Amino acid sequence: MTFDVLKPKITAIISDSSSKDHSLQLICDLLKTEIPHYDWVGFYFKNGDKEELKLGPYSGTPTDHTIIPFGKGICGQVALSNENFVVPDVKAQDNYIACNINVKSEIVVPLFVNGQNIGQIDIDSSTADPFTDADEHFLEFVCQSVATLM
Ligand code: SME
Repeated sequence: MTFDVLKPKITAIISDSSSKDHSLQLICDLLKTEIPHYDWVGFYFKNGDKEELKLGPYSGTPTDHTIIPFGKGICGQVALSNENFVVPDVKAQDNYIACNINVKSEIVVPLFVNGQNIGQIDIDSSTADPFTDADEHFLEFVCQSVATLM
C-alpha cells in the first residue's frame, strides 16, 4: 500500500480513537502489515520526568529494550537531537542497540507536542538501505497525527 493510500487510514484511526494506546497499536499494525520494508514498528515515549524512553505500543518481535536511556542507541540519540535519524546500515553505527539479528536498517522520527520532543516512532527493517525522503515525510505525518491524541 502506498503512503498516499495509508495517510487517510491513519487520519481515520485518529478520528475514531477511543483510547490512545489502542489507536497507536492499530497504526503500528497497519504500517507493519502494509509496508513491506517495515518489519518492526513501535512508539517510544519519554518516561515521566526521567531521562529515558519507555516502549509503548509496537508491532513485531518483542524486544528486551523496553527502557532506553537518553543518548543510548539510535532512539536515545533522537531523544536529544530532536531530528530524524535514518540508518541505512546498522552495522556501521557505534551507538546502536541491537534488538534482533535480522535488522539491517532503522529509521527513527521524533514526535513533538507543543514543540516538545515527547517520543518517537521507530522502524526496523530487514532490508538494507530501504528508507527514502518519502519514508521520512510519511512518518512525520504519522507523528503529527499522533500528536493530536496526546
Ligand atoms: N535499535 C534501537 C533500539 C530499539 S529496537 O530497534 C526496537 C536503538 O538503537 O535505539
